Amino acid sequence: MMIIGEGMISYPLIILNFKVYRESIGKNAVRLAKYAEEVSRELGISIAVAPAFTDLKMVVDSVSIPVLSQHVDPYPPGSWTGSIVVEMLREVGVVGSIVNHSEKRLILADIPVVLSRLREHGLISVLCTDTVETTKAGATLSPDIIAIEPPELIGTGISVSKAKPEVVTKAVEIVKEVNPHVHVLCGAGISLGEDVRRAIELGAEGVLLASAYVKAKDPKELLKSMAEDALKAWERRKHHLNL
Ligand code: G3P
Repeated sequence: MMIIGEGMISYPLIILNFKVYRESIGKNAVRLAKYAEEVSRELGISIAVAPAFTDLKMVVDSVSIPVLSQHVDPYPPGSWTGSIVVEMLREVGVVGSIVNHSEKRLILADIPVVLSRLREHGLISVLCTDTVETTKAGATLSPDIIAIEPPELIGTGISVSKAKPEVVTKAVEIVKEVNPHVHVLCGAGISLGEDVRRAIELGAEGVLLASAYVKAKDPKELLKSMAEDALKAWERRKHHLNL
């Protein structure tokens, strides 16, 4: 099965999770997605957006950068009131989904089901984990991407890459040991270009962020500085590794 979003995603990758902030729902979702598209195009960096479910179609129709769902349930189509099933995501035209975000946890038994349903339908999975231990377990399930986010830093403006650098390095190390094909992002509190730079220096292949972007006075400027720092750090890393 061809993976729909594969050609649209490269590294370093910035994923913007819009959550359901007042500033990021409805028309604001399109506005924020368009800034992301502009920065992606201007700097040649991969940026994906994850709007609320009700905004997905509108955003997919408005931009050409990859769009992800914030959540998907493990069920097949059927009698599951209020659920989001993978087939609905295919229909709406997203490239994949965030899975098990700490604000939208799945029970353990459902995680492999969701990952394989996404895979079967050619969609990308971004599996969220909260500790090094759950990251190790998550890597054995071979999602496309793992995003480690210590929940206590989410929405605080205190960046995981500054406050808990060892969590990022250990997560990267462990994922690459278990399955080198799984990409690793980190998130929680990422607010500045230097937070993104630090994340990449620690071995992450990108970041997942929400509040800093959604609530910024000038989201496009902020994203631009994050993207510039990501690209610079990525170049230095490639040079260092002689790639
Ligand atoms: O999914 C992103 C996330 O939970 C981090 O949120 O607001 O700390 O960037 P934030």
